[in-house]
Amino acid sequence: MAPMRVVVLVSGGGTNLQSLLDAGWTGALGAAEIVGVISNKPGVRALERAAAAGVAARVVDHRGFAERAAFDSALKAEVQSLGADLVVLAGFMRVLTETFLAGFEDRVINIHPSLLPAFPGVKAQAQALHYGVKITGCTVHFVDAGLDSGAIISQAAVPVLDDDTEESLQARILAEEHRLLPAAVADLAAGRVRREGRRVHRVL
Ligand code: GRF
Repeated sequence: MAPMRVVVLVSGGGTNLQSLLDAGWTGALGAAEIVGVISNKPGVRALERAAAAGVAARVVDHRGFAERAAFDSALKAEVQSLGADLVVLAGFMRVLTETFLAGFEDRVINIHPSLLPAFPGVKAQAQALHYGVKITGCTVHFVDAGLDSGAIISQAAVPVLDDDTEESLQARILAEEHRLLPAAVADLAAGRVRREGRRVHRVL
């Protein structure tokens, strides 16, 4: 069977991208292959990680577009030119619209650093500390046109400790992200994920 072609969208450091690239090397991605990385920001570390792994890396700079729909169209064209079967948002800091998502139903996923539906949007770790929750974590979910609102594929929990800072909490969550995201991609590639409305089941 042909591998599932995965394109990863990034905006920054790319540690989640690295976890996917590493999983590709070890075989933990199963039938999935990372075929391209696209950043909406030039010069970010994630692009270096892609280059170091020999993966096609491109920039579609959102600042070059007056309207969100025009950016989404350009991004979609790049994703399609890479022959993507699955699009993974890994620290990609733009909300995608229907312009991008149309035709990609159940083929775009995101990793978010909270237990959704708690703390969507930016600075999820700071939101968790501010609220005072004792447990938070990360979520892999399908992407819809809302803000971190698509059907949930998998989640992992971590404790919030009394002396946590944003940085220490972020690090504890990231360690789980780096496990959860490659596992979700491998499950999708193997056809082990089935969505029925908002509920996503893992099938064997
Ligand atoms: C991660 O916490 C991810 O959940 C969030 O942005 C961060 C990106 O980190 N969406 P990295 O670029 O993968 O290191």
